Amino acid sequence: MNTVKTINEVRNQVKVWKKEGYSIALVPTMGSLHAGHASLISRAAKENEKVVVSIFVNPIQFGPSEDLDSYPRDLNKDEIVCEGAGADLIFAPKATEMYYKDIEASVSVKELAAGLCGAKRPNHFAGVCTVVSKLFNIIPADKAYFGQKDAQQLAIIKRMVRDLNFDIEIIGCPIIREKDGLAKSSRNVYLSPEERQAALILNKSLTKCREALSNGERSTNLLKEIIKAQIQTETLARIDYIEIVDALSLDAIDFANKPILVAIAIYIGKTRLIDNFIYEA
Ligand code: PAJ
Repeated sequence: MNTVKTINEVRNQVKVWKKEGYSIALVPTMGSLHAGHASLISRAAKENEKVVVSIFVNPIQFGPSEDLDSYPRDLNKDEIVCEGAGADLIFAPKATEMYYKDIEASVSVKELAAGLCGAKRPNHFAGVCTVVSKLFNIIPADKAYFGQKDAQQLAIIKRMVRDLNFDIEIIGCPIIREKDGLAKSSRNVYLSPEERQAALILNKSLTKCREALSNGERSTNLLKEIIKAQIQTETLARIDYIEIVDALSLDAIDFANKPILVAIAIYIGKTRLIDNFIYEA
């Protein structure tokens, strides 16, 4: 496995593989890789002959008061995770390699980016769409792998690919969790031991909601109340949002009578964590 830092190098390698007829997968990441990322890479390696992992902390998807500078970075450790999961090549560019100072063009979606995480992070998904479009153009893969952990991101990327005719198949992969249920996240390292324990409230509250759905509850207002009551039992937790939306359009709905996405964003201390599940009524 090799690590390259320039667009030319990754393009040349992928060109050679294409000429040789290999199927190629792309796994876009921001590094600080954990078992969630590794699951995407392993699946990509099972389903394709060559796997490229991009590692790039994309500055344009961070808001001015967000954690761009403190976002954890460790390329050496990431290389070990990539190699262990079956990657063939890492593309780890610097920001100056990816962005001209006078960049004019960008890619965005409209309504899908308006709610959930997009409501409080106004330019976030345009930053994600722009960097992912650039990666798709730099690395013309057959398939790209994304996690259901970032459910809105996955829905947006799928729509962007459909609307702009990118010649790539988007594969969504399940959320990987710690043994105690906390969804794996690069941001979990910010949590103190006490906060780490408090963070269990995300999955606990979603489990309560799933139980209510299984018992036949369909009012999304009531279901949101069930989650809220559970979150409020944890003193270190502060609700950013609790939403139940149509799983495809991400439109708010009153009754859970079609596939729904139940998504929450909760501050544990200063750390904002997200979690979700899809329920097919
Ligand atoms: P990052 O947060 O590094 O995540 C990279 C990919 O790993 C995303 O598709 C994300 O959904 C997936 N992932 C993260 N935690 C996961 C978990 N616990 N289980 C399964 N998959 C998980 O998402 C981004 O980076 C960026 O926005 C990116 C798409 C790379 C664009 O910059």
